[in-house]
Amino acid sequence: MAFQKHILCIGAGYVGGPTMAMIALKCPQYKVTVVDINPRRIAEWNSDLLPIYEPGLDDVVKTARGRNLFFNTDVEKGIQEADIIFVSVNTPTKTFGAGAGMAADLQYWEKTARQIRENSDSPKIIVEKSTLPVKTALAMERILTSDSKVPFEVLSNPEFLAEGTAIRDLENPDRVLIGSRETESGLKARAELVAVYANWVPKEKIITTNTWSSELSKLVSNAFLAQRVSSINAISALCERAEANVSEVSRAVGMDSRVGSKFLNASVGFGGSCFKKDILNMVYLCRFYGLSEVADYWEGVVKINEYQKERFVMNMLQAMFNTLAGKKICLFGFAFKADTGDTRESPAIFIAKRLCEERAHLMITDPKALDNAKTDLKGVVGDIEYVADPYTAASGCDAIAVMTEWKLYKELDYQKIYHSMVKPAFIFDGRNILNHQTLFDMGFNVFPIGKPPLTHFKRES
Ligand code: UDX
Ligand code: ADP
Repeated sequence: MAFQKHILCIGAGYVGGPTMAMIALKCPQYKVTVVDINPRRIAEWNSDLLPIYEPGLDDVVKTARGRNLFFNTDVEKGIQEADIIFVSVNTPTKTFGAGAGMAADLQYWEKTARQIRENSDSPKIIVEKSTLPVKTALAMERILTSDSKVPFEVLSNPEFLAEGTAIRDLENPDRVLIGSRETESGLKARAELVAVYANWVPKEKIITTNTWSSELSKLVSNAFLAQRVSSINAISALCERAEANVSEVSRAVGMDSRVGSKFLNASVGFGGSCFKKDILNMVYLCRFYGLSEVADYWEGVVKINEYQKERFVMNMLQAMFNTLAGKKICLFGFAFKADTGDTRESPAIFIAKRLCEERAHLMITDPKALDNAKTDLKGVVGDIEYVADPYTAASGCDAIAVMTEWKLYKELDYQKIYHSMVKPAFIFDGRNILNHQTLFDMGFNVFPIGKPPLTHFKRES
């Protein structure tokens, strides 16, 4: 069958893979090809064991793969036959030179732009999918148009999916944002991309802007979301001192419809590949433009997150009589959130490293993230074991620290776990997902986030 359009995506990661699978599912009239320089990743996309765990993804891939969805490593051929090219290669924070630790490292991006130019002999629409600093499209345009044989139009189309709910978010997005130049050719390219999404997204949810607003909106969306988490986490510290209950406070505050109730769960800290990276990127941009007050304001969101993680470790240390040396601590979860195996920037990495510095022995368990945990903690000096079964992991431990809000941790037999642990037994609930009173009644000393601890020790006089 002849396809109406050829869509290519460069980069088969957490963004590119699921997004293209959804486009292929919803648009059988298009041929969608996903390429990556990593042959192992591509082999996994072509197998029964996909490289990422995402609820619902297997079914979408199975339906479209081989029909109009293809994964391979032939980047050049992919470019040649494509009409629309999505770029979703990684853009990590720079680790060297100017802007190290803050700005985005654009080397993979620039390589891709040059590769597109070299292999194109028909006009193409290039779509930025990776989160990028504002004005990247301009740089992309300059690389593409210098010495090129064909016209290119560069669009910004940031991805707003959240891991763990990617399929739901892609199928029914709050909005699709498309930025373009407001020239005749820019508007034409914009309309072509709108037409792709209009196959399943209602027209009123597809919004269009100029390129720079679109690029900036992505950074600002993540900054606002992260800011809410840091705001409630900052309040959790106050609640612990003031004997207030952060869940009660967030419920009361969130019921104001101007504030809204989502993203107000106090936690051990936010993680994920986007929040910290995007905020620091924006902070760098503000400093570049001389807006130091604005930069400091947003940097505070990241600082509170670091503070929250450190505070969690200090609370553990203090509660367990100021020494963790030789104690066995079980981490329930290592992923940065539930329903994903992704551990990028997971607070569990920081906590695990700090607990090792305190010379605790770690038992780490997680239903999907143990392989990534092993990679993250490679080379860390300490006594660390990785155990799939949570009961085995907790047995013989002095404490459990909940790092990830996996549903399964709410449903465990804590009576059985209590009996298998060293006494006094502690639970530090970094996600406030457990029934604290019930655990206390079983004999546990319970330390939630932002709520008074429940302990069996006599109060200090
Ligand atoms: C985020 C954005 O939500 C998404 O729109 C964007 O495309 C990519 O970045 P993601 O990183 O997948 O998505 O996860 P998200 O659900 O936003 O959670 C980020 C972190 O914040 C997680 O560690 C989560 O546990 C934490 N969090 C979230 C809280 O601690 N409390 C909350 O109330 C909400
Ligand atoms: P994200 O979460 O943004 O999707 P990932 O790191 O999961 O980020 O995915 C990015 C993917 O891009 C990786 O699989 C990486 O191998 C791929 N990649 C990076 N540079 C190139 C390139 N020049 N050509 C093709 N793929 C690339």
